[in-house]
Amino acid sequence: MTTAALSIHLQRELRSDHAGELGAVFIYRGMQQVAKLKNDKALMAFAEAHGETEAKHLAAIETWLPASQRSMLLVPWRIAGWLTGALPALFGSQAAYATVASVETFVDQHYQQQIDHIQLNGGDAQLLALLKECQADERHHRDEAASLADNASHFFIRAWCWLVGTGSAGAVVLARRI
Ligand SMILES: [Fe+2]
Ligand SMILES: [Fe+2]
Repeated sequence: MTTAALSIHLQRELRSDHAGELGAVFIYRGMQQVAKLKNDKALMAFAEAHGETEAKHLAAIETWLPASQRSMLLVPWRIAGWLTGALPALFGSQAAYATVASVETFVDQHYQQQIDHIQLNGGDAQLLALLKECQADERHHRDEAASLADNASHFFIRAWCWLVGTGSAGAVVLARRI
């Protein structure tokens, strides 16, 4: 299956998935680098394990979206991802876990609307299976992070997570188009 066989709508959605998974790889890269600086071994292991899953998602999405179809903003997505992982990790591991819980809550819903679309309108069964597989991993990431972020009720953490959720939604709108 190539992207030519996909509807314009799904090509756009996949462009946003690709940008999101690339951003996710960089979220965990930034988080892992700061955790290493701070010698926070638990956060390092968390970021490393999650980052490996995101790299697999990215590689799988890439097989569906040739380079010519990908977002033109890949450098900004890398930078935004890195900062989204590194900044809260500088603040502390609770902020880092809360950030991941927010991002993955968003990504779960993002994949859900694509799954709903294919189930309603029809679409490639293998693509549907891939989206469901990615979504299951993101839900696992979300739940693991949420259970670790049990003290993350600080006002600044909540404000930051709101910003991350809003920023993710804005990034999806952009990545669908550009
Ligand atoms: Fe992912
Ligand atoms: Fe994830």
